[in-house]
Formats: sequence, C-alpha cells, structure tokens
Amino acid sequence: MGNDRYLTIALGKGRLAKQALATFEKIGITCQEMKDPNTRKLIFVNEEYKMRFFLAKGPDVPTYVEYGAADIGIVGEDTILEEARNIYEVLDLGFGKCRMCVCGPKESKEFLGHQELIRVATKYPRIAKDYFYNKKHQTVEIIKLNGSIELAPIVGLSEVIVDIVETGSTLRENGLEVLEEVCPLSARMVVNQVSMKMEYDRITKIISDLKGALAQED
Ligand code: PRP
Repeated sequence: MGNDRYLTIALGKGRLAKQALATFEKIGITCQEMKDPNTRKLIFVNEEYKMRFFLAKGPDVPTYVEYGAADIGIVGEDTILEEARNIYEVLDLGFGKCRMCVCGPKESKEFLGHQELIRVATKYPRIAKDYFYNKKHQTVEIIKLNGSIELAPIVGLSEVIVDIVETGSTLRENGLEVLEEVCPLSARMVVNQVSMKMEYDRITKIISDLKGALAQED
C-alpha cells in the first residue's frame, strides 16, 4: 500500500543462485535480466515488485544482510554458521542439501578417537573449532584454507579436513572418505532484523508464499 521502498535480496553466487531464482519464479517474482550470462551488471531491478537482486560471494551475504544493505539473503547454512552474524534465519529452502563432514584417508579415522593433537584443514574454522572443541572435546590445530580443501591430507598439510560433501565424488576421486558427520546443510533464507519489523507484511508474504511453493514440491 504505497510502499515505494525497494526490497533488496542478496543471493550467494554459484550453485545456489540459480535454484534461488527458480524458487522466486515459482511465487511469481522473476528477474529476467539476471539470467543473461553475458551481463556485467551487479544489481538487477524488478520494477513491478519493487525488488532488487544482487549476487555476492556466499560469505558476504550475511554481512550485507546484517548491515541492512540487503533486506533478505539466500545462502547456505554452512555460511550462516561460519559467519555467525546478527540476522534472522527464517526458512529452510530445501535445496542445496549437503553435509558438513570430517574427511580424510581411512587411516586417519584412528586420530579421531584418541584425543590426538591433529591438524584440521578447512574453509570453516568456526564450525571446525566448535565441533572439535565443544562437541568432541579434542584439542586440534585448525588450518584455514580458501578452497580445494581435499588437497590438504593428500600433500600432508593436515590429517583430516572439515568440508562440505554433496555427491561425495571429490572425496572418491582423491582416495578420501567421510570419517564423521558434523551436521546436515541446506539453503536458507535470512532477513535483516530491522527489515523484519519495518517490512513485516511484505517479508512475511514472501516467506509464506515460498513455504506454499515448497510444500507443493513435497
Ligand atoms: C565444494 C566442497 C568440496 C566439493 C564437494 O567445493 O568444498 O570440495 O564441493 O562436492 P561433491 O561431494 O559433490 O564432490 P567447491 O566446488 O565449492 O570448491 P572449493 O573446493 O574451491 O571450495
């Protein structure tokens, strides 16, 4: 009712972005411009719905949402746990399902049961620390890496890794396996805490429409 403020939605780049857009399409919110593979534009506007979409690196999505630069974010639960921002997590979108796991060569399994001081390579130091220190009560050395984590145990940087496993093919092709499961993961919708109050009607309508669309898929 006369609300001309644009709602801004941050999407994590990569695997989740396409599915996030497809999910919004199901509830009638489209952003045709964003699908152009050749575009160098960073932000896309849907004038009809007074909405703006932008793509950001996954770990930056909770930051944009916490500061209110985006009202809503779509991002993996792994990133939400790792970034630990002051944001509301409002909906499990059901796609992007995978697991956070401790992985390594099968010989490394023995290091996980005896309180050994091992090295753990990961892109997720907070999640790894919480798992080893608070759940397993095992003191470990966490080594932060930025990608291709599976390399670490192969070249002797660490005994194990904490990483995402989706199909398991990266592990299999590199002679590694899941040794322990930390937690299941999926894509989530997050909301800025002030936006939730100021734009309550628009945001709760989006959440309930998405819930309805997700229920139809089941
Ligand atoms: C992720 C993750 C694993 C892989 C798991 O990496 O870090 O390496 O996907 O998927 P799979 O079980 O289906 O093989 P990503 O492709 O995001 O790149 P990165 O290793 O550079 O982070």
